[in-house]
Amino acid sequence: MPLRSHVIGHGAYLPETVWTNADLTSKVDTSDEWIVKRTGIRQRHIAADGELTSDLATAACRQALERAGLAPQRLDLLVCATATPDETFPATATRVQAQLGMTGGAAFDVQAVCSGFVYALAVADNFLRLGQAQTALVVGAETFSRILDWTDRGTCVLFGDGAGAVLLRAGEGSGRNTDRGVLSTHLYSDGRHHDALYVDGGVSSTGTAGHLRMEGKEVFRHAVVRMAEAIDTALAANDLTPGDIDWLVPHQANIRIIESMAKRLNLPMERVVATVERHANTSAASIPLALDEAAGDGRLKRGELILLDAMGGGFTWGSALVRW
Ligand code: UT7
Repeated sequence: MPLRSHVIGHGAYLPETVWTNADLTSKVDTSDEWIVKRTGIRQRHIAADGELTSDLATAACRQALERAGLAPQRLDLLVCATATPDETFPATATRVQAQLGMTGGAAFDVQAVCSGFVYALAVADNFLRLGQAQTALVVGAETFSRILDWTDRGTCVLFGDGAGAVLLRAGEGSGRNTDRGVLSTHLYSDGRHHDALYVDGGVSSTGTAGHLRMEGKEVFRHAVVRMAEAIDTALAANDLTPGDIDWLVPHQANIRIIESMAKRLNLPMERVVATVERHANTSAASIPLALDEAAGDGRLKRGELILLDAMGGGFTWGSALVRW
C-alpha cells in the first residue's frame, strides 16, 4: 500500500499588536485607500520587541499538537519554513524543537521565502511517503517587520508577522486521487529573477541582516503567470479538472493575484480562503495561517480537495494538492 501524508492537526499564532493602514500613514506617505485598492490589505500583526520567529512558530506548533492530542516526543520531524530566522545558525527549527519538548527526530529550516510553506510541505511529505518519518510538523513562521525598510512605502505596507503549522502523519492510501492527504507537490525556481525580490544584506555579503527590496510590478506579473502554471501542473498530474477543487488556499500577497487564480479555476471567491485583508503578506506563514483559519471555522471539511499555490523571492513557486 502506498503511503500518504495525512493532515491530523493545525495551529496558528498571530502577534497581539495590530497596525492598521491608518497607523502607517504616520510613517510613510501612503493612504488606506491606496493600500486597500492595490492590495486588499487593511491591517497586519507585528511581533513585539523580543518576540522571535521561533516564539511564533512554537505557539503555532503547540496548538497543532494539542488539537491532535499528540505528545511532542512522538514527532520524528520538524520542518520550519522561514526567511526571517532568529539567528544565522542554528536553524530556527531546533529552537522550536527545544521549546516544544520534542526530544528526538530531526529539525531543520527550509528557505524559499513566500513559497516556503509549499517547499517545506513537499520535503516533509517525501520523508513520510518514503517511510523515513511517521509524524512531522510543518511550520511557516516569519517576522518580516524586522527586515522592512520603514521609509519605503512601496514595500513596508505589504507585509506582516505570524506563524501557521500543520501536523502530518503517514497513513495508507491507494495511490489514487481519491486518497486523503497530500496528493502531490510541485516545486520550481528561477534564480535569474533575484533582483526583483531580495534582501540587500546577509552574512557573507554585507554582514548585516539587510532590508527587503522589491520591484512590485515585476513580481506581480510573474506571480500571475507562474502560480497559474503551477495550478495547471497540479491538476494534470492528478488527472483532475478545476471543477474538482473545493478550496483554493493561495499565498496571501495581493487580493488581485488571488482573484486571478480563482478566475482561472472558475471558483467563486466564497471557495477561496483569503486572509490578506487582516494578515497582509506573512510570507511562508500565509498559507498555513489561512488553512488554520478555514479549518478552525469549519469551512474545510474532511475529504475536500484543497489546492495550495505560492510564489516568492528567488523566484520560487509551487503548488500542492491536499485532500483534507
Ligand atoms: O510575496 C511575494 C510576492 N509578492 C507579491 O506578489 C507582490 C506583487 N506586487 C504587488 O502586489 C503590487 O505590484 C504592489 C502592491 C506592490 C504595487 O501595486 P502596483 O499597482 O503595481 O503599483 P506601482 O508599484 O506601479 O505604483 C503605482 C504608484 C506609484 O506612483 P506613480 O509613480 O504612479 O506616481 C507609486 O509610487 O503608486 C505609488 N505607491 C504608493 N502610493 C501610496 C507605491 N506604494 C505606495 C503606497 N502608498 N504605499
